[in-house]
Parts: sequence; structure tokens; C-alpha cells
Amino acid sequence: MKRVAVFASGSGSNFQSIADSITKGISTHFELCGLVASKPDIQALDRAHRLRLPSVVLKASDFENEALFANALLDTTTNWNTDIIVLAGYLTKLPAIFIERFHGIILNIHPSLLPKFGGKGFYGLKVHDAVLQAGETESGCTVHVVDGEYDKGRILAQLKLDVHPNESAEELAKRVLQLEHELFPRVVEQIAQYGVPE
Ligand code: GRF
Repeated sequence: MKRVAVFASGSGSNFQSIADSITKGISTHFELCGLVASKPDIQALDRAHRLRLPSVVLKASDFENEALFANALLDTTTNWNTDIIVLAGYLTKLPAIFIERFHGIILNIHPSLLPKFGGKGFYGLKVHDAVLQAGETESGCTVHVVDGEYDKGRILAQLKLDVHPNESAEELAKRVLQLEHELFPRVVEQIAQYGVPE
């Protein structure tokens, strides 16, 4: 049984979908060991509380330097005996030393069909605005392995949808988020069961 730590910065609906997949018995090869929040007062923390999971707020700017922030992340995840890190709407750049420690087993979800509409600055509605501006006929979501660069690591899985004529960025975001809730638990389960494919 693998132990998965979730990192989040916002509502945590992806975190919830992963937790629900365990409750429903769909995911059976991992358990959640805790939530790392990048700031206080986010909805993801309330969800952790309701799920009776340990949670901690580690805000990068509260630390004097990046090394101390990295130590706090490493201490927390080590104490939780973490095997896999899942970034579910986590908006803080992870220190290189942390990525090195969990090399190949940090997963992220992004609300576009990477490599399109990824990288620094592409987050939240900005992604969907850019998709609509570009006149794309399809969009979707991507789960990828995290390396040092934003949204650049190896792609593990994607789900697609057709962009509706005249839909707003908000509508598109909502539909893509539904796909995320389907895709992310499935990929986490696969990685927990079989590891990251060669
Ligand atoms: C999702 O759209 C995800 O793709 C992106 O941030 C959003 C997080 O939503 N990285 P939530 O906090 O899981 O509801």
C-alpha cells in the first residue's frame, strides 16, 4: 500500500476526488497520508479536516530561504512516510532539492492538453482564456511527472473534450475540472500499483 501526500493551494476538488476514489473502493493501492497547503484558509484544509487527515500549512514566504522551506517539506513528507507526491492545484514552485528527493514520483495535473498552454503564467482561467483565444477545437487535462520546469515533465495521461462554440472560459474550466476528477485518481492508482512506466 503506497502512501500519497497531496499538495494544494486552493479549493482542493481534485484532492477530494482522489479521497473519494478510496472511499468508494475504486482506488485500492494507495492511502492518503496528509495534505500540505501552500497557504492558510484554503478550502483544501477543510476537506483534510473532514477526511480526518493530517494537514500542515507550509508557506514558502514564511521561510527565511528556500533551503529552510525545502527542509520543512522534506521533514513533513518523511514523517508521513510518503511514497508519492500529488500536486492537486499547487501553485508554489517546489525547491529543486525536494524534486530530486522524490524524483519521478511527483505527479501534477494541468487543465490543458500539454505541451499546449503550459508553463509559467498558465494557471486557472488564464489557461482556458488562452485556449479560447487560440480558437482550439479541443481541450482537456494532463497528468504529468514533475521535473524542474513548470508543466514540462513526462506526460502520463490525458483526457480530451470538444470546445463548444461560444462557451466562456468559466464554462470550459468547469467541464475540464470534471475530467480532471475522473483522470487524476485513475492515474494515481496506476502509479501506486505499477510505478511510473519506463
Ligand atoms: C485544477 O484545474 C488543476 O488542473 C490546476 O489547479 C486547479 C485546482 O483545482 N492545477 P482544485 O483545487 O483541485 O479544485
